[in-house]
Amino acid sequence: DMGGHDTYMHKEIHEQADAVDRALRGRIDDRFSTVHLGGLNLDARDARAVRRVKILGCGTSYHAGQIGAQMIEELARIPADAEPASEFRYRNPVVDPDTLYIAVSQSGETYDVLAAVQELKRKGARVLGLVNVVGSAIARETDGGIYVHAGPEVCVVSTKCFTNMVVSFGLLALHLGRTRDLSVADGKRIIEGLRKLPGQIEEILANEAQIEELAKEYAEAKSMMFIGRVRGYPVAREASLKLKEVSYIHAEAYPASELKHGPLALIEPAMPTVAIVPDDELLEKNRAALEEIKARSGRILAVAHQVQEKADHTIVVPKNEDELDAILMGIPLQLFAYYTAKAMGRDIDKPRNLAKSVTVE
Ligand code: M6R
Repeated sequence: DMGGHDTYMHKEIHEQADAVDRALRGRIDDRFSTVHLGGLNLDARDARAVRRVKILGCGTSYHAGQIGAQMIEELARIPADAEPASEFRYRNPVVDPDTLYIAVSQSGETYDVLAAVQELKRKGARVLGLVNVVGSAIARETDGGIYVHAGPEVCVVSTKCFTNMVVSFGLLALHLGRTRDLSVADGKRIIEGLRKLPGQIEEILANEAQIEELAKEYAEAKSMMFIGRVRGYPVAREASLKLKEVSYIHAEAYPASELKHGPLALIEPAMPTVAIVPDDELLEKNRAALEEIKARSGRILAVAHQVQEKADHTIVVPKNEDELDAILMGIPLQLFAYYTAKAMGRDIDKPRNLAKSVTVE
C-alpha cells in the first residue's frame, strides 16, 4: 500500500521523520547525557578497550558507514574507517583483536557482507551489526548490534534506511564517546541535535516544490558532478549513487579538495555540479571550490545552510550540530533524484539491472 504516493521511493522519503523518531525512542538517557543501546552486547570495559573501528557494507550502506566512521572519530576519538565489504573480504585483511568490526546492512542478507562477517568471526574478531531487518542472517551472525528501525523498505533504492543508519551511527558514536572523553556538555549538545532531526526533516520535505522544479531543470544533463569535503563527501557519494540508480544519469562524486587534481578538466556548462556546503569550519574552503567551478562556467546547485552567492541555485537545509549535519544534507538530494527520474519517466521503484538485496557473490 503506497498510501497516496505514486511510488514506494516517494512514500519512504516521506516516512523519514517518523523513522528517525523510532530510532531515537527509548534510547536517550538524559541523566548521563548518553544513549542506551540494548542489543549492543558491549559493556563499558569492552567499549573502552576498542582501539579501532572498521565498518563494512555495500552500496548505500557503505556510504552510511563512511559517515558513521567520521562520527565515531569525531565524538569518540577512536580511529575509524569504512570499506566495501566485498573489497575487504577479497584482500586477505589483517584481523586485529582490538578492532571493533561493524557490518551495516538494510536487508541483513547481502552475501558479501555476510561472508565478511563469517570470515571475521572465524578469525576471532568481535563483530556488531547495524541492520534494519530483524532476525536477518547478518543480525543472527553478529555478536550484538543496533537495529536501525527504519521499518520495511520496499523501493530497490534505499532512502529512509540510509537516514536511520546514519542516525544509529550517531547514537553509537555518542555512546562510545561518553564511555571515553566526550564531556557531559557535548553529550547534551548531541542529544539536543538528535532530538531536532525529525522536525528538521519535515522542514526539508516541505520544500519539495522547489526541489521538483530544480530536478526538471537539471534532468537535461548527461552527466553531473557531486562534491563535498570531509563530512560532506560521503553525502555527495550517496547523492551521486541515488541519481545514477533511479535516473541513469552518469554522475561522479569527488572530494571538493580533489577537483584541481584532475576532475576540474570536466567542468563546462553541460556538466553541472551539486555541491554540499555545510556551515562549518570548512565553509570558506567550499566557497573557494564554487568559485573555481564558476570560473569555468560550470552550473552549480548547492545544498547548504545559507544561500550561496556563487551557486546558480541553493537548496537551504536547517543547521544541526556540525557532527550531525551529514544526516540531513542528503535528504533533499533523495527528492532531487526522485524528481529527475520522474521527469525522465524511469521505473523508480525497480531500476533496471538492480535487485533489492544482492544475495549472490
Ligand atoms: O541490504 P543492504 O543494505 O546490505 O544492501 C546493500 C546495497 O546493495 C544497497 O544499499 C544498494 O546499493 C541500494 N540499491 C542502494 O540504493
